[in-house]
Amino acid sequence: IAHGKPERARPWWVGKREALLERAAAGTPRYVYDLATVRERARVLTGTAAIDRGFFAIKANPHPAILRTIVNEGLGLECVSLGEIEHVFATLPELSPQRVLFTPSFAPRREYEAAFAKGITVTLDNIEALQRWPEVFRGRTLWLRLDLGHGEGHHAKVKTGGVAAKFGLPLAKVDAFLDAARVLDVRVSGLHAHLGSGIDDPQHWHGVYAHLAGLADSVGTVETIDIGGGLSVPYTPESAHFDVALWRAGLDEIKAAYPRYGLVVEPGRYLVAECGVLLLSVTQVVEKDGVRRIGADAGMNALMRPSIYDAYHGIHNLDRLDDTQSQTFDVVGPICESGDVLGFERALPAATAQGDVLLVADAGAYGMVMANTYNLRALPAEDIIE
Ligand code: LLP
Repeated sequence: IAHGKPERARPWWVGKREALLERAAAGTPRYVYDLATVRERARVLTGTAAIDRGFFAIKANPHPAILRTIVNEGLGLECVSLGEIEHVFATLPELSPQRVLFTPSFAPRREYEAAFAKGITVTLDNIEALQRWPEVFRGRTLWLRLDLGHGEGHHAKVKTGGVAAKFGLPLAKVDAFLDAARVLDVRVSGLHAHLGSGIDDPQHWHGVYAHLAGLADSVGTVETIDIGGGLSVPYTPESAHFDVALWRAGLDEIKAAYPRYGLVVEPGRYLVAECGVLLLSVTQVVEKDGVRRIGADAGMNALMRPSIYDAYHGIHNLDRLDDTQSQTFDVVGPICESGDVLGFERALPAATAQGDVLLVADAGAYGMVMANTYNLRALPAEDIIE
């Protein structure tokens, strides 16, 4: 803090080692989520004065206990498919539709119809859907998703703005969209922009708000500005925590400049990444041509992020946390692909042996929900720790 960078807190799982080993004994691969961490993160959003409404992007982790925890903290839920909408109402039948957003991409017609029928706020990002399905949109109020011309984020595959991205209406088409909307008596009550995922720069969001607020002034019917999600979490040992103080200061400032609009955020990762760990069992430890590998009972089938984004997740040997003798290993899974590597050149206990429990850290976001049954391997189990 003295150096202006927020310190990384000790991860919750260090104090829960015995409980985690017990869960692992019931079978691996297994995701375990700590709800206290989710609650603490939700409170960062609810404690940010400039934010009028916060929504959790449930695509990051739709586990029912996590959804309930987040909703109980006063946040809403952002969905991107009818499947997610149905899951939300099956989990929380009493939830007001006003606490749900629908922000789909290239969704089929029936998903828009279903969302409108439920009274959920729908976000649209193209003119073609309006023109193709006038009977779906006529007389509706909706939010417009914009592409502000650039994408941000931890990897090219998660940048959702700019010419290479499929998301958002380009600014040059805003007038044409508003004309098409007018014809159908469609009212644009919100402007939305989500430019990517895993954005480190806390200044990013007030820039988005400023841009959208300037446009909103000229649209005239806008009440709400949704500046998306994308807040980063510190995956590597070197990365600092997201600078909440700086983020809040920027939002306060820009909200004071444009006080007329309700400010909405919709993070996924920030709320749940650090609440989750993936527990694996060591299957084999093998040396080949000078490379030592620790094999685990799941890899890219349980956690795709390292293989598709070269993402870093801390990996620890839960049975030997205090071992001081370490060696360098690649940590690999059992899938028949050379890309099935969870971590390259990791320092892990030299004594690591078959049967040890590995913990893959910060796996609560885009972990289980992206797991698959490739090679006909079973999906991981899931557990909650209170
Ligand atoms: N809002 C919209 C419209 C989104 O598309 C997303 C994420 C979010 C909010 C939440 O973004 P977050 O706060 O979680 O960064 N599988 C990738 C991330 C894909 C994000 C997709 N959209 C990963 O594991 O890094």
